Amino acid sequence: MLISPQLSGNVARNCHPPGCKAYLQQQADYIQQQAPFNSAKKVLILGASSGFGLASRLALAVGGGADTIGVSFERGPSEKGVGSAGWYNNIYCRELAEQRGLIAKNFVGDAFNPAMREQVIDYIKNQFGGKVDLVIYSLATGKRKTASGQWQSVLKTTDKAMHGYSINLETEQLEAQSVEVANTEEVEATTKVMGGDEWRNWIDALQQADVLAEACNTIAYSYVGPERTAAIYRDGTIGRAKQHLHATAQELDTQLNKQLNGHAYACVCKALVTKASVYIPVMSPYIALLYQVMKELGIHEECIEQAYRLFSQHLYPKDGEVRLDSLKQIRIDDLELSTQVQQQIDQRYNTISPANFKQLTDFSGYKAAFMRLNGFAVEGVNYQQSIDMSELEKLQP
Ligand code: NAI
Repeated sequence: MLISPQLSGNVARNCHPPGCKAYLQQQADYIQQQAPFNSAKKVLILGASSGFGLASRLALAVGGGADTIGVSFERGPSEKGVGSAGWYNNIYCRELAEQRGLIAKNFVGDAFNPAMREQVIDYIKNQFGGKVDLVIYSLATGKRKTASGQWQSVLKTTDKAMHGYSINLETEQLEAQSVEVANTEEVEATTKVMGGDEWRNWIDALQQADVLAEACNTIAYSYVGPERTAAIYRDGTIGRAKQHLHATAQELDTQLNKQLNGHAYACVCKALVTKASVYIPVMSPYIALLYQVMKELGIHEECIEQAYRLFSQHLYPKDGEVRLDSLKQIRIDDLELSTQVQQQIDQRYNTISPANFKQLTDFSGYKAAFMRLNGFAVEGVNYQQSIDMSELEKLQP
């Protein structure tokens, strides 16, 4: 059968598995063309199937020769459809790693469930061939359910209501959108979902089970952003959750340092199109303009370029000195926040309207980036070639 993209608003309803495979290969090829780096060799990635987690896994396997364990929440093919892009990313990432003689073990299920931690710990103890020397926390989700409660995050402001525009990828329109102020419970719930609680739970459990290596590092991905997006991001509900994550980084840093001579860092990345970020209200015109400006300046990066720069220059530079800012955070959002980029954005942002946003921003690049995440619009893929679903159904992560 032929698979063409189905979008509902900013949610992809299907994916193109051969396109996912080709896109993964292109990212691996990019890393292959860069200088290798001397990184951790046994890595656990929570949220490994897409976005920053997937790029990290590819960069560490191809550029650093690391064995990886990936945990993600994805769905395989069924009578309901072809399955999610992340499902195929897990499969093809494992194949790619195995071709290089590396382990890429996948666990598909809820990372918030203690049973998942047990399974992963059991695997590390009995089959992984060594303790973990890097844990990456890259989960992005709207819900968290545990034995003690369940929470739903919201993407709202915390100060005053705001109005702006959001890109609708399905209709290709810029739509007016209002964002309400969250109440206290909503701020708390968002922090429960996107803050540092589960990062801590994982590190505690891994440490207690004695499966973290001496000098083990852990990083969690975060975003800060410029003043322009502060109301919805930095000062919004998601920003509050990130503050909790940053505070958790400091606590875990002390803990790991004392017990294992290890470290914990928040790693602040640039704004990029991912399955999760297209969901944030009134952020998308900023991201589409950011793409335009950074491409014009020749400094645009996608997740894979960010991941390479993170590992080769910040976490595992040749001199061994981790690059940190004054808050002890790793900053790979430096190019986004540079004066040069932000001045350009400030000059143009207020002229963006529903009538001209396709010309004034990199809308086409923004949409193409989203389509590629789901295996569509990938260069070199023949979308007229029939896909044999029965073959895909045999593939296991
Ligand atoms: P994404 O949606 O591409 O990836 C999220 C990952 O989490 C996927 O692998 C998914 O399967 C997994 N996941 C979600 N719920 C799960 C669950 N219950 N159990 C197991 N796995 C689960 O998201 P993205 O954008 O890569 O986000 C990752 C982190 O990077 C987040 O903390 C986000 O805030 C941060 N970040 C993202 C930026 C962006 O512009 N996209 C910028 C800076 C930071």
